[in-house]
Amino acid sequence: MELENKIQSIFPEEKDIPRQFKLTAEVIQKEYLVNGELRSWGGPMQQALSPICIRGPSTVQQKPLGRFPLLTEEESLGALGAAINAYDNGRGPWPTMSVEDRIKHVEEFAYRMKEKRDEVVRLLMWEIGKSYRDSEKEFDRTLDYIRDTIEALKELDRLSSRFVIKDGVIGQIRRAPLGVALCMGPYNYPLNETFTTLIPALIMGNTVVFKPARRGTLILYPLLEAFQTSFPRGVVNSVYGDGRKVIKPLMESGKVSALAFIGSSKAASKLRSQHPALHRLRCTLGLDAKNAAIVLPDADLDLAVRECILGTLAYNGQRCTSLKILFVYSQIIDAFLEHFVEAVTKLKFGMPWEPDVSLTPLPGLDMINNMVSLVEDAKGHGAKIMNEAGGTVNKTFFYPAILYPVNPEMRIYREEQFGPVIPVLPFDKIETPLRYIIESNYGQQVSIFGGDAKIIASLIDPLVNQVCRVNINSQCQRGPDSFPFTGRKDSAQGTLSVFDALRAFSIRTAVAAKQTALNRELITKIVRERESNFLSTDYIL
Ligand code: G3H
Repeated sequence: MELENKIQSIFPEEKDIPRQFKLTAEVIQKEYLVNGELRSWGGPMQQALSPICIRGPSTVQQKPLGRFPLLTEEESLGALGAAINAYDNGRGPWPTMSVEDRIKHVEEFAYRMKEKRDEVVRLLMWEIGKSYRDSEKEFDRTLDYIRDTIEALKELDRLSSRFVIKDGVIGQIRRAPLGVALCMGPYNYPLNETFTTLIPALIMGNTVVFKPARRGTLILYPLLEAFQTSFPRGVVNSVYGDGRKVIKPLMESGKVSALAFIGSSKAASKLRSQHPALHRLRCTLGLDAKNAAIVLPDADLDLAVRECILGTLAYNGQRCTSLKILFVYSQIIDAFLEHFVEAVTKLKFGMPWEPDVSLTPLPGLDMINNMVSLVEDAKGHGAKIMNEAGGTVNKTFFYPAILYPVNPEMRIYREEQFGPVIPVLPFDKIETPLRYIIESNYGQQVSIFGGDAKIIASLIDPLVNQVCRVNINSQCQRGPDSFPFTGRKDSAQGTLSVFDALRAFSIRTAVAAKQTALNRELITKIVRERESNFLSTDYIL
């Protein structure tokens, strides 16, 4: 009862918000970035509501954060036109610029971005309910990612700065841009995941149109000016609004050469299918997942519980890499559940600015309704809620629900919950979780908990052919960002890592010549007199 009462009084009054975390005024974003101009929008606007509710004298309501433009097809096509012009069929200043100079623009952007840290971090916290500490981490990780991308590109460029001579042919092989890239990020990492495609796309010489996730738009507003001043006109453009209105025409134009999308596989299929010439479209997609944990009989229980807590509940389970189903060996399931329930009960819940807070409100009432309906469905098929107050709702806050025993009849068995509902299943034969993974539509990652090298090895070999990362005694996660991040089946297309992303947004292109006296002389002259940015042996240090 005490816990229930605490949940019901989770939301603060305006006066309770510590001064350093307050939002002094609503953020009214009228501008969108097209062709190097911050154009002002006079049409309809979308209101942004915070996951955080504020207690008034008689109501508790989501705090209004501000508004942003709901553009139409016309403005969106204008943004695409600007990107097409800037690319100019590969003849624009940006795609033909030397790598060294493109790097300078990105460095300038990173410098300006850093100046906006406080503003962006605070907006992240207010707009998607991520804890202040995790919002800081997201910002810093993104800056690190940009720095690492620059270093990786320098390395790549150094390796390509030499000539290859084979079978009487002299060649220089580099990576060249694809054209116009459309980058769309998700709400859960609206800065990081948007930039882990946008920055590599840019630095490789593509021009970009980006559209932020509906929840997670305002956080990018403080950076628009940095984009405007750091890049030549038309190289970066932004669109906002309903995807059916602003994205469909872009895809249908056939002028998008690279699509980077992080979201659901359903939405990704729809987007792709709108392109009239699919062979011209390079897709980099981060999609659904239902990562499983397999807890073996000899697992270190404390460690398994600790990692499963992080895996299921970090940022309220709203990570594509979250553990979304736990298979626990039946003879240890009672002990596991006891420890796990206790650990969940100890997690601090509250407002994202509170120190050490783990559980925070979710970004929308639709998400709460989905959590409730998943729990109701599971209860209807025989699951019990194992933790006190599990599934309790207060407006945008949903207290985690541990469901046990879960069976294949339940929606939660297959559906990706993307929130704090934790399905747990017992197993006697290892075939049970293996079969689950084989039959799953998803294939991102898995976590195995156990101590026997032989058994773990016998699981690694089949599992690496089902998913793209097998984690041992560790939760699933994307980082470190130099590791490949991808998935099989409906979980991804293409691979992202600092290095792989550079490849995803470029294509190997060669200049080749038969080794004649004339050609040797020509190439030597071009290189010596630095006539070309592509055919060059300049070495970036
Ligand atoms: O939502 C998916 C993120 O890429 C997960 O990243 O594992 O570092 O939280 P993370």
